[in-house]
Amino acid sequence: MRILHLLIAAGAMVAFSGAATAQSVTYENGVKKILSERCMGCHGKGAPTLAEFDKDKEGWKKKMKGPRIDDYQNLMILVNGSDAGALMRRLDDGKNTKDGKPGNMYNYLGKNADERAQRLVAMKQWVGNWTLKRRKEMSEGELKSITAAEK
Ligand code: HEC
Repeated sequence: MRILHLLIAAGAMVAFSGAATAQSVTYENGVKKILSERCMGCHGKGAPTLAEFDKDKEGWKKKMKGPRIDDYQNLMILVNGSDAGALMRRLDDGKNTKDGKPGNMYNYLGKNADERAQRLVAMKQWVGNWTLKRRKEMSEGELKSITAAEK
């Protein structure tokens, strides 16, 4: 009996400290910093809106510019907006896919393998429902479970 109580108490402590220390990742708390550090060279001020980008993908690629994700609204287009899932597909490490290939922006996520892996965990926590589906393949429920809070 005593051991059982101890185990329960220890379990509760772990659960509690986990909840107390885990700061939730939001756009303002974590995501923005990663993107400004690693992505803005090609997705920042001089980059096209998604609409502009879609009109001339090849042209923008040659200029090394991808769609602008320099603020929350622009970023969300690629998370749960008209191009939902694009951010997840590009940043995924490929470990849970059939071909095992990472998305082609995964490499930019951090300066070494450890940093990339850590940041992917943070990005997944932020997105809530990490899916590699395209928008048209997602149900309304799946779209809604993408939380990706701003603050
Ligand atoms: C060296 C330039 C460069 C860097 C750095 C870069 N990207 Fe990109 N990104 C591009 C280019 C060019 C494209 C368009 C070509 C393509 O689709 O691969 C693109 C495409 C994308 C797309 C797909 C957009 C769409 O609608 O098809 C996403 C999402 C993306 N990048 C996210 C990121 C994130 C997040 C980072 C930082 C972790 C990042 N990129 C870093 C150049 C870059």
